[in-house]
Amino acid sequence: MQDSEQQLQAAFVSEDPSDHAAHVAHWQKILSNPEVINRTIVVDDVVVGNVGSWVMEGVRQITYWIGSDYCGNGYATAAVLKFLPLILERPVEGRCAFDNYASARVLEKAGFLKVGTDRYFANARGEEIEELIFQLP
Ligand SMILES: CC(C)(COP(=O)(O)OP(=O)(O)OC[C@H]1O[C@@H](n2cnc3c(N)ncnc32)[C@H](O)[C@@H]1OP(=O)(O)O)[C@@H](O)C(=O)NCCC(=O)NCCS
Repeated sequence: MQDSEQQLQAAFVSEDPSDHAAHVAHWQKILSNPEVINRTIVVDDVVVGNVGSWVMEGVRQITYWIGSDYCGNGYATAAVLKFLPLILERPVEGRCAFDNYASARVLEKAGFLKVGTDRYFANARGEEIEELIFQLP
């Protein structure tokens, strides 16, 4: 997803989202990792985004992206709720930039609780920012 406003919103994105070769290599790595679970979000035969999960430092993570044309319709929340039963481990962790209110809301609506914060360098913002950590127990 190349939308620059969404890159800013997500904050923790790749160093150069316009680098197509790096993007393809990244996805090849993701899709060949047996621990990764990914689903494409399709609404009325239109691809509107994706939802995925991987393991980081022993804790299963969830992430999602909805194309900007399709935001605000409840698609991320619906996708996360449909996706969670595919994940057998608990807790599941979801992380977002401190000011990614929509993403935090998606997690809250799916039953995640805020358990902490951390600080990481956010490529899209060019600085270290706070990240909120949510868990589904
Ligand atoms: C974050 C994202 C997934 C949300 O997708 P979506 O389909 O619009 O989400 P939903 O419609 O299911 O829910 C969004 C919720 O956030 C709320 N919201 C949106 N903007 C908000 C804001 N600025 N402040 C507070 N709440 C906000 C909505 O009102 C809604 O909550 P509600 O149902 O209680 O009213 C989407 O914007 C996206 O893909 N952004 C770019 C990538 C990204 O940030 N991914 C997450 C990385 S952690």
